[in-house]
Amino acid sequence: MLIKIAKPGDLRESDVTPESVYLSRRRFMGGLAGLGLSAGAGLALSGRALAAASDYQDVPAGNPPGWLEPKLANAEWESVVPADRQLDKLTPFDDATHYNNFYEFGTGKGDPARNADALKTQPWSVVIDGEVNNGGRFDLEDLAKPSRLQERIYRLRCVEAWSMVIPWLGIPLGDVIKRAEPTSKAKYVKFETLVAPEQMPGQDSSFALIDWPYTEGLRMDEAMHPLAILGLGMYGRELPNQNGAPFRLVVPWKYGFKSIKSIVRISLVEEQPVNSWQAIAPDEYGFYANVNPEVDHPRWSQATERRLPNSLFNPNIIDTRMFNGYAEEVASLYQGMDLRKHF
Ligand code: MTE
Repeated sequence: MLIKIAKPGDLRESDVTPESVYLSRRRFMGGLAGLGLSAGAGLALSGRALAAASDYQDVPAGNPPGWLEPKLANAEWESVVPADRQLDKLTPFDDATHYNNFYEFGTGKGDPARNADALKTQPWSVVIDGEVNNGGRFDLEDLAKPSRLQERIYRLRCVEAWSMVIPWLGIPLGDVIKRAEPTSKAKYVKFETLVAPEQMPGQDSSFALIDWPYTEGLRMDEAMHPLAILGLGMYGRELPNQNGAPFRLVVPWKYGFKSIKSIVRISLVEEQPVNSWQAIAPDEYGFYANVNPEVDHPRWSQATERRLPNSLFNPNIIDTRMFNGYAEEVASLYQGMDLRKHF
């Protein structure tokens, strides 16, 4: 399925003059430098005329809060795309929104789409606290206001060995952390999801394994990495509730469980936090959770993954890549670490 549809005004390769090749190359290099990334990384920036949200013609219109509308219209489209666009075709919107993990709404893959309508996402405020000089409770609007939305087309690799390719719209997590003014004691960032059993039936279930709130954490340098974003939208619109509205973490080089949804609290802390899955099964799920085809889950291999959509006759199994294909950007964060021990 082709989701991006070129508009009449878009440049075609054959229209490009040497001068505009130079200019788009410069924009490409400048964009990468702006992200703190090197060219030659497994990523690319588009040099073509900016696309727009309306390119997602087969995506149902959303209903964004008033403050998000101008931000969506002014997004920087395709600011990061995977280099291998053949392999990394976008996952259809319908699959990305009907095959979900969001245990607050049930443990079945279809439960979040069925149950998440009850989640009230406006107004939404976020507490930023701990080792910061500029903490407090912030409206999401105010938190997002200073940063321009960027479209990041990332692979999402679940620890369960399925994967998708999602066009997120988000803001750098590092921007938000910097504005909170961390103190020198801030070594980790801890995230928590909303607790509201009246809206989230999975939190009311006596079979729930998770001790709510769903909690996640990153080391400070991971959180400041330019690939780590706070997602406010996908496919040119706001986030559907089942994907973690109104905002979630997206850390593309880690297993999907790190990308915590519907965040209400961000704490800068001195000690390494224990994340929800680590608390349930520490031998199976670690703190780092970097995608690594060489370190298997105790109960299954992580060498390959099932790229969705797939079927019985088209299993669509592909090799899993180190750090989910983002090794050039992030491997240096883990230099000298035993990744079997720190899984
Ligand atoms: N965040 C919360 N609050 N609760 C969850 O159950 N599941 C995680 C992650 N974030 C989860 C969560 C897991 S296991 C994955 S793979 C991704 O969300 C899935 O994101 P998606 O449903 O948008 O594809």
